[in-house]
Amino acid sequence: MHDPYYKLLKTVAEINGCQLDLIIDQNHSTTGEICRACNSNNSKNIQYFLAGLKLQVKELRSLLKGAFANIDYSDRFTRTAYMLAYFPFYIEPIYYVTKSHINKLIEANTSEINICFIGGGPLPELLGLSKSISAKNNVSILNCSILDAFPYWITEREYCTKSLLEDYFKGEVGIDSLTFNLWSNNLKIPKEIHNADLVVAQNCINDCPKDKFSIMKNNFQIIWNNMKKNSSIIILDLNYNTISDLLKNLKKYFSQSGGEIVQDISRGEKRPSIPKCQHLEELLFEQTDGLLARRVVKYYSLIVKKI
Ligand SMILES: C[S@@+](CC[C@H](N)C(=O)[O-])C[C@H]1O[C@@H](n2cnc3c(N)ncnc32)[C@H](O)[C@@H]1O
Repeated sequence: MHDPYYKLLKTVAEINGCQLDLIIDQNHSTTGEICRACNSNNSKNIQYFLAGLKLQVKELRSLLKGAFANIDYSDRFTRTAYMLAYFPFYIEPIYYVTKSHINKLIEANTSEINICFIGGGPLPELLGLSKSISAKNNVSILNCSILDAFPYWITEREYCTKSLLEDYFKGEVGIDSLTFNLWSNNLKIPKEIHNADLVVAQNCINDCPKDKFSIMKNNFQIIWNNMKKNSSIIILDLNYNTISDLLKNLKKYFSQSGGEIVQDISRGEKRPSIPKCQHLEELLFEQTDGLLARRVVKYYSLIVKKI
């Protein structure tokens, strides 16, 4: 079990100009089911911080309930709502999807890996993937490039994700970002794609508007054509039919153009092994429609290596 909430609550609050002094109460024993942030004194400020966020969580939930979500992440409160309601749940899926294939994905004796994260945003997938990679003892450097249409996520990555990283990976991690529109009808391929050992696209397909879906499919093919030999693409997204149909289509294309299927399209359904954050459960995720706390994460995934 891992516990992202303690650092996450503190850092997300900090971004929003709110200082949370979460002093762990030594007399209050943790059961392992309740997060460390809950086992702390001074929760008054947390109440003030969370009070204004219900509307954003509700809005985000209703948008992410269906395919073609198309969310405007330029609003800081929307990003904050994402960090609290979704980020913790999207750390693990890529870990489960990659851990048994890590020797296939990373060459023996490699010490440095280049990874491109398309639509990476706040990058929970870096935490899960780096945990998987940490099984390869010789890998000590991850060079990460974030290709995202919304540059604003840099704040959440700098404050939140970077502070959490040490709990998942002990090596050195560099993170660069560039603006990239996955459904542009004039896609420019940056050198980071050419140099990548791993190209990851997690939970960004579902954001694509319906009328851009075929452009995006085409862009995935262009990305694939520009990847180097022995690199792999890892696609993981929500469990909608639009996603599995796209994956079937891409799998066929990748296979016909030099791809070896490392992990066939599969549907995962996991209860994340993170403790409950009672602050969030009680103050943000009221047990009413639209704000219910998540219990399971369902996703489709596919991994293909270019040979
Ligand atoms: C639901 S979030 C997923 C973020 C992260 N990958 C995760 O798993 O939590 C969708 C991401 O897609 C990005 N995005 C939205 N439109 C995009 C586009 N046209 N091209 C690339 N990324 C886009 C958003 O900024 C955001 O980072």
